[in-house]
This record gives sequence, structure tokens and C-alpha cells, in this order.
Amino acid sequence: MATIVGCVTTSHVPAIGGAIARGLQHEPYWKPFFDGFPPIREWLGRARPDAAVVFYNDHGLNFFLDKMPTFAVGAAPQYRNADEGWGIPTLPAFPGDPELSWRLIEHLVESDFDITSCQEMLVDHAFTMPMKLLWPDAGSSWPLPTVPVCINTVQHPLPSARRCVELGRAVGEAVRRWPADRRVLLIGSGGLSHQLDGRRAGFINKEFDQRFMQSLVDDPAWAAKYSIRELVELTGTQGVELLMWMAARAALGDGAELLHASYHIPISNTAAGTMAFAPAA
Ligand code: DHB
Ligand code: FE
Repeated sequence: MATIVGCVTTSHVPAIGGAIARGLQHEPYWKPFFDGFPPIREWLGRARPDAAVVFYNDHGLNFFLDKMPTFAVGAAPQYRNADEGWGIPTLPAFPGDPELSWRLIEHLVESDFDITSCQEMLVDHAFTMPMKLLWPDAGSSWPLPTVPVCINTVQHPLPSARRCVELGRAVGEAVRRWPADRRVLLIGSGGLSHQLDGRRAGFINKEFDQRFMQSLVDDPAWAAKYSIRELVELTGTQGVELLMWMAARAALGDGAELLHASYHIPISNTAAGTMAFAPAA
């Protein structure tokens, strides 16, 4: 049976791509953020994942307001990145894992999730930034195939945090029931508190972010008690991207061992957090 080796959650900001391209990782502005990754990469070297399921939110590259699935799962042989207009390098295509994709899709539909399956899918910075941070030296050949799981945080109504936790749990079940000798990493990309637009642009809530990060260690469904409206109030219109962290962490199972956590304000407009978990011993 397949094994889940662990879960990595991180904030994403397009400017990370610009900082990497210009070699700014050790500049004082960027260092606190980039310093979160070497310990995680060391652990990944030992954990040896050979596939990654990436929970992320598309920002208008693949899905736009005309067609907005609540949950979409990639089932493509590869996923291309494309220019979103941020002026950051477009990254090489990411290999897919259609066998794992269809395992997830079949299990999710059997579990009453009405998902959209995508045999073609562009992936944006929310998908590419964690990949580049975890495998900075990949060049044009990523070391493992991926399955993107996209959750709508753009066009309201958004799925509830409770539903995202349930989605994550079902993804975890599907992986654990996969009769393949494979080692799967879970990635959740989004948040933490930030708001890019409107009267509260620049809003950050350190107290909530830290409480939320703590909850992922020992009570991963804690934030599911909040409605989407409450989460937007607490974390900002884009802070609600923390749904990705909840889904990825839920897929790991209730208990987990915290391997690493870092939190830094700000990068760009965002409170930047990164965490890594191994399954409970
Ligand atoms: C920023 C944050 C995001 O989550 C995003 O998708 C784009 C930009 C920012 O802080 O600049
Ligand atoms: Fe975002």
C-alpha cells in the first residue's frame, strides 16, 4: 500500500519567484522566509517521497470567473506553468501521475465529492512556488510527479473549512488505500493572513496565524468552526487560502509530529508561514 511520508504547508507569493531568479535568498528582507526551507529539504532527502499531492488555489490562470469549480483534481500527464503577468520566470512543466490522479478522483466521487477532473490544467504560482522552494535545484526535470488539487478561493461562495477538511481526509484515505509501493508527500500552499485589495488591504493578523499554526499540530480541524465570512474577517480576503493548509494537514490524519515551523511578517503583503509534519509515530 502507498504511504504518506508527511505534509508541508507554506505561504505563496509570486515575488518569491522574483527573489529566487535574482538570487536574493540571503538578503535581510527574504532570509527569514527562505531560512524555513533547508531543514525541510533535509528531511525530504530522508523521507524520499516519489509523488506529491499539491493542494493549492488557482488565481485566474487556469480557471476564471466564467467557470469556477469548487474542487478540481488534475488528471493530466503534465501540468504547464504560464505567464500570470507577475514578471517572474515561467517554470518547466511538472510531470503528472495519472494513476494516482484517478485513484483520488474515483475515491472522492465515491465519497460524495462533486469534483471537476482536469485532463489539461495550467498551474499558477500557488502550485509552482512550493515546488521551487522544496526542489530549488530541479532545473528542467522535477524529481517527482504531482497531482494538483485546486480549491476555489476566488469566486464566492467558497467551500467551508469543514468541507475542505473532509476533502483532505478523503484524499488521505485514497492515498493510503492505493495498492502501490509509493511514498506520497502532501503539500498545502496558501495564506497565511493577507488582504490584497479593498479598505483592509495590508491586513495581517499575527495572533490568529499563530493560533492557527498551533492548531495544526494537535487539533487540525480547529479552524473548521469558523465560517468563510469569519475566516475572511480574521485573516483577510486572501488569508482564507489557509483552507489549503487545513486540507493538506487533514489528509495526513489526526495525529502528526511537527518537524518544523517558521513564521515571518511580511513577505510582499503576506504573513509567511511554513510548517512540516511527519505522520504520528
Ligand atoms: C500576494 C499574495 C498571494 O497569495 C498571491 O496569490 C499573490 C500576491 C502578495 O502578498 O503579494
Ligand atoms: Fe494567493
